Formats: sequence, C-alpha cells, structure tokens
Amino acid sequence: MSDLKEQIDKNRIPRHIAIIMDGNGRWAKEKGHDRLYGHYQGVESVRNIVEGAAEIGVEYLTLYAFSTENWDRPEYEVVGLMELLVNTIRKEMPVLQKNNIRMHVIGNIKMMPEHAQQELKDALDETAANTGLNLVLALSYSSRWELTEAVKNIALAVKDGHLNPSDITQDTLQQYLTTHNFPDPELMIRTSGEHRISNFLLYQLAYAELYFTNTRWPDFRKESLYEAIIDFQGRERRFGKISEQLQSEAEVQ
Ligand code: IPE
Ligand code: IPE
Ligand code: MG
Repeated sequence: MSDLKEQIDKNRIPRHIAIIMDGNGRWAKEKGHDRLYGHYQGVESVRNIVEGAAEIGVEYLTLYAFSTENWDRPEYEVVGLMELLVNTIRKEMPVLQKNNIRMHVIGNIKMMPEHAQQELKDALDETAANTGLNLVLALSYSSRWELTEAVKNIALAVKDGHLNPSDITQDTLQQYLTTHNFPDPELMIRTSGEHRISNFLLYQLAYAELYFTNTRWPDFRKESLYEAIIDFQGRERRFGKISEQLQSEAEVQ
C-alpha cells in the first residue's frame, strides 16, 4: 500500500473526488447476508476512504450515500439506512473533530426523518469551524432535483426583480446549485461495475475524469482510492483543446 501512495504525484492530487458508493447489496447477497449487512460494512469503507483522502491532502470528498430514487426501495431497507446514517454520524463525530474534517450535506434533506435531519444539522454545526477535508454527503440527492430547484429559484429571483434574464450566465446557474461553495469534481469513481452516472452531479461532472472499478463498495479501501488517483494522473485533460496547446501552455508556466 505504501508503494501505491508513493507513486502518487503530490503536486497533482485532485482537489475534489466524488464517489458513487455502489454494490453493498450485491456484496452482502454474495456472502449469504441481508442487504443491510452490506450497508453496515460499507460504513467501514467510508471510514477508510475518508482517512485515505485526508492523508494525501484531498480538499473535497463527495460521497453519494442515498439518491432521490433510493426512497423507492423496500421500506425496511430505507428505514435501516436512515438508522445507520444517524448512528454513524453520532459515533463518528469525535473522529471528524479529531481529524479537523468539516461535514456538508447536499440533497433534499426535508424528506428525511426528523431525527435524522436534526443529527445532520448538529454535525454541520459542530464541524463548521474545521479547516481540513470537506466531506460532502449527498443524501436524498439527485441532479435533476437540484437543477429543478435551481431553475425555480432563478425564476423567483427574476420575478422579484433581483435578476435580469439577460445577465444569467453559467456562473449564475452555478451559484444556484447546492454545490456552489465547492469546486467541480476532477475525478468521479463508481464502484461495483456499473457504468452509469445515476443522476449524480450531472452539471458538475462535465469535465470530470470517470473511473469505474468492479470492486464492490464494502471492499473498496485506501489502496483502491490510490489506484484510481494514479490512473487519473496518467490521463491528459484537454478541456476541448488539443494536446500541443497543453504542452506549450505547460512550457510557458
Ligand atoms: C449502494 O449499494 C448504496 C446505496 C445505494 C444506498 P446498493 O444498495 O445500491 O448495492 P447494490 O447495487 O444493490 O449491490
Ligand atoms: C446510486 O446507486 C446511488 C447511490 C450510490 C447512493 P444505485 O444502486 O441506486 O443506482 P442504480 O439504480 O444502479 O442506477
Ligand atoms: Mg446499487
């Protein structure tokens, strides 16, 4: 593992990594367990990845923990996931504090049970002054929900006379997203073999490098994260330009 960590170019660590943590259910089923057992084991991976990201100086880590569409899962699973969330946040709070981690939440948390909302609010308040890793939990989140909210709020600002339609730019839209305080992710990882975005950060991932691995989330560990970062560092991010332009820009610097 230390070998992999050594291979990472410390000057080119992605500032923001976003992860679709997928495969808990299949992992559990393959081992003859209930799906919820997979979610419980998934928390171990969260702990390990948060630590691994903080160790190498990632500034923002966004974890897709529960989607808008996940509300349609069987009730026992939804209830179990909410309980797991509340218990985990409560239990992990001293660790977040000790490691100077600031927690953020994006998503429609009004849909969450009252006690879960309260737990989240407390966690946001308690970690608000921390200056290390920004841990962004996407909860009850979907991009289409987020974009619809943004459009509604822009329309209201126009109606109230605070915003002129001809002044709307990409920056305006960005300001109305739940992620307005965060840079766009440079690297998006999805575990467990699915090659899709599933309504996650559709706008923000426009130029992210996508990395897919067959590893199920409960088996994903620091080494797996470091492998993804090394893969990311081997890619040429052209942003619509051509390779020669990037090379001459690098020479100027
Ligand atoms: C990801 O694992 C966690 C959540 C969506 C809450 P899944 O529960 O989607 O696991 P699979 O994809 O069914 O294996
Ligand atoms: C995406 O996983 C959402 C989260 C990881 C929270 P899903 O398992 O819900 O996505 P699909 O249904 O396979 O697209
Ligand atoms: Mg899944």
